[in-house]
Amino acid sequence: MSSTLEPNTVTPPRIRQTGILIGDEFRPSVSGKTFATVNPATEEVICQVAEGDAADVDLAVHAARAAFETGPWSRMDARDRGRLLNRLADLAESHIDELAALETLDNGKPISDARAADLPLAIDCLRYYAGWADKVHGQTIPVRGDYFCYTRREPIGVCGQIIPWNFPLLMVAWKWGPALATGNTIVMKPAEQTPLSCLRLAELALEAGFPPGVINVVPGYGPTAGAALVRHPQVDKIAFTGEGTTAKIIMKEASETLKRLTFELGGKSPNIVFADADLDAAIAGAEFGLFFNQGQCCCAGSRLFVEESVHDEFVERIAKRASQRVLGNPFDPETQQGPQVDQAQFDKIMRYIDRGQAQGAQCQAGGRRRGNRGYFVEPTVFSNVTDQMDIAREEIFGPVMSILKFRDIDEVTRRANNTAFGLAAAVWTRDVKKAHQMSHALRAGTVWVNCYDVFDAGAPFGGFKMSGIGRECGEAGLANYTELKTVTMAMK
Ligand code: NAI
Ligand code: MG
Repeated sequence: MSSTLEPNTVTPPRIRQTGILIGDEFRPSVSGKTFATVNPATEEVICQVAEGDAADVDLAVHAARAAFETGPWSRMDARDRGRLLNRLADLAESHIDELAALETLDNGKPISDARAADLPLAIDCLRYYAGWADKVHGQTIPVRGDYFCYTRREPIGVCGQIIPWNFPLLMVAWKWGPALATGNTIVMKPAEQTPLSCLRLAELALEAGFPPGVINVVPGYGPTAGAALVRHPQVDKIAFTGEGTTAKIIMKEASETLKRLTFELGGKSPNIVFADADLDAAIAGAEFGLFFNQGQCCCAGSRLFVEESVHDEFVERIAKRASQRVLGNPFDPETQQGPQVDQAQFDKIMRYIDRGQAQGAQCQAGGRRRGNRGYFVEPTVFSNVTDQMDIAREEIFGPVMSILKFRDIDEVTRRANNTAFGLAAAVWTRDVKKAHQMSHALRAGTVWVNCYDVFDAGAPFGGFKMSGIGRECGEAGLANYTELKTVTMAMK
């Protein structure tokens, strides 16, 4: 499939599923249209995928509605929902090589990352929420008078789920896990860049025994398939991960039907290195926190604040590490960095690199395209970045590190919080008081101390400010998928 393949590389999988899943059937789109999904390492078309639009979304929503109202799912014991989720996790695990290779083929991420991060985290998430299925409790409430008052947590109904391309399967697991554990039904729209792994997992979900209509998948584009889902009156909730500007459109469109909304959006996360930190660990963490997944992480540590006294040494060492990163064929297990996901992302990143240079930042490593085939960008490090520059303010979503110098804790706290985003932050220090002070002062949904990008299905994740609404993962993730009902009964 990929002509850059060499011996000793993992073989891309056979593509098994390219249709729209409605009920228990994968089918072509109503319009008959298809779209190409592209291998970003070679720029070659992998295959055509059915292109859903409003007509397909309507069919999928009806299937999901029927499954929610009258199907076996609506009568299933909570513990059996958990068993189905566990079975899906088992099937994902027994197909881990195929699913990881699909991620690498469609997204371009290194196979070693897909194997070590995406797949284990996705499987863990499904198992974590399988365990919650029969543990979602209400309360009994001591009200005044002769009444018995209690609460129930009930599913919201049909959930529209719209996801991006940076962690295709992990985003599926974060969305399906809590929705299914709590008894909802789903219409998912995967990203147009990366529909393949989601479709394959949906096939495995049917094999696991999820009743028809519980999970429906409509691949297609945002303004057509995505927008139809957002507008559909029979959809109760939209869970979206992606860009803030898309979230604003969704919020406006969804206001017509007052849908429940949860958003996981972008960031410009500060990664703060104090002079008293373990510098070896901080440098390794800064590299991982920015360059992991080609820099395509909502929580990338893209504003790297370094204390003055260690700044120059830090810049020199991180620039060296960046230029030593292994770029290339993502199917080679030695590769650390693959291509960006598509031409649009590649172009956006190159524009930011140009603007960084034009606005006076100093390029210490990278700064160019690698090769002339595939969307490869050299790991790039800018020093002398100031707070006003575009590369310090806007989400680049690529392998571009911006290093900013600071003098003291008050200054860096103020500067770190001076952003419309609030997804994540990190602090590197050996001083436990400073670590706690910073953890409390930083306005972000996640703060990592002496580590970066440590994810766990049990740990809530989401944004302050314009980085999101609601939390995914953990017990908090269940709240996104339940309605609270109060029952009051006369005792006399
Ligand atoms: P996007 O927000 O346009 O796409 C994400 C998902 O939303 C896709 O499934 C897309 O088809 C869908 N979508 C797009 N327009 C829609 C609409 N009008 N109604 C309903 N659904 C719609 O993000 P895109 O264009 O892929 O990336 C642009 C930038 O967004 C990136 O450069 C990055 O800065 C940011 N981004 C952030 C992510 C995160 O994890 N927070 C993930 C992906 C992108
Ligand atoms: Mg877009």
